[in-house]
Amino acid sequence: MSIRPLLKLGNPLLRRKAENVDLSSLHDPDMQQLIDDMIETMHAAHGAGLAAPQVGVNLRLAVAEVRDNPRYPGLGSLPLSVWVNPVRTILSDRIVVEMYEGCLSVPGLRGLVRRPGHVRLSAVDRFGEPFEQDFDGPLAAVVGHELDHLDGVLFVDHADSKTLTFLDEYDQFPENEKRIRVYWP
Ligand code: NI
Repeated sequence: MSIRPLLKLGNPLLRRKAENVDLSSLHDPDMQQLIDDMIETMHAAHGAGLAAPQVGVNLRLAVAEVRDNPRYPGLGSLPLSVWVNPVRTILSDRIVVEMYEGCLSVPGLRGLVRRPGHVRLSAVDRFGEPFEQDFDGPLAAVVGHELDHLDGVLFVDHADSKTLTFLDEYDQFPENEKRIRVYWP
């Protein structure tokens, strides 16, 4: 396993629409190596998720893992997950999550993003098994953030620019209850 270099905001490779993974390639050791490297890179950078375009690979593939984190009170937890060719369906347009997001490709910055708060993820796991999983609240935002990467979209595209904040300031200023808010109908 190895840690791969992360592409940063401004690199045009982050702005491409990624290609579907050919599922037969999951048998390829190089593809499994890529997945392992993405997991190791995400862990080393203390990220909640990482999409293949962030390591310069133009494929519809992302990894995610969320543990209880004092910086994100109320985020919830998600076991280590590998999403191949993920598709998101919005289950409710009335449940909305507002959360200060960050991104390993936009280091040091946070900004408030509003996203659908109840979604279904349909994807294939790293062994080629299809699955579906429903998410609500902040984890629905994590799904939205990672899938956006596969379409060349970054959180700063959605963030209210007046809420952009550097990490030191984020640690000081937004009140806890404003960091993550879920609006239920
Ligand atoms: Ni990101």
